[in-house]
Amino acid sequence: TKKAFIFDLDGVIVDTAKYHFLAWQKIAQELNINFTLEDNELLKGVSRVRSLDIILELGKVEASQEDKNRWLIQKNEEYLTYLVDMDQSEILAGVLPVLQFLKDKKQPIALGSASKNARPILEKTGIIHYFDAIVDGNDVTNAKPDPEVFLIAAQALGIKPEDAIVFEDSVAGVQAANIAKMISIGIGEEKTLHEAKYIFEDFTHIELAFIEKLINK
Ligand code: G6P
Ligand code: MG
Repeated sequence: TKKAFIFDLDGVIVDTAKYHFLAWQKIAQELNINFTLEDNELLKGVSRVRSLDIILELGKVEASQEDKNRWLIQKNEEYLTYLVDMDQSEILAGVLPVLQFLKDKKQPIALGSASKNARPILEKTGIIHYFDAIVDGNDVTNAKPDPEVFLIAAQALGIKPEDAIVFEDSVAGVQAANIAKMISIGIGEEKTLHEAKYIFEDFTHIELAFIEKLINK
């Protein structure tokens, strides 16, 4: 049967989570806010605007909309400097074989990301052709854990939410998939992603036989 395989981008397909962190850390430093790798977990999967609010809350900083807008632009400019030289080598290990397997099995594939930079990243890494639908930060109004992004993705593929499988590295994203009644697959650490139905350290730990089972369910 046809299932919808929905992939988050940052931290699932490409190792950009570290670049988001570095760019936010620079803003935090300028504002004298202590912002750690652990705090960063709260930002994963979360929109740019919401991420800044979380950092400001951490530092108990109140700011005008004008300042916030400036920092949002600054963060993205910093982030984009890391993407300039991006190529296929930044695709996380094990991802390509799974994408290729799904294509061979004629399974619908979608991207479900909060990022407004998703399309250029898929183009630079040379994998945009795998995706039958791309739903990103330009298409949604409600950030994960709201399920909007995944529901739109499943709909675009013509598949019911119950028949959708979501790969996510963020707590907010796993929650969004669960709220959408989709099968959530956490990519990362058990202690962070325990709400996911299945958890794998990374894609090299996912066997194609497991994917095949999901397809045949
Ligand atoms: C993803 C990342 C977040 C990021 C968000 C928005 O969900 O996990 O860290 O803040 O996308 O990305 P953008 O590229 O639009 O700033
Ligand atoms: Mg992510």
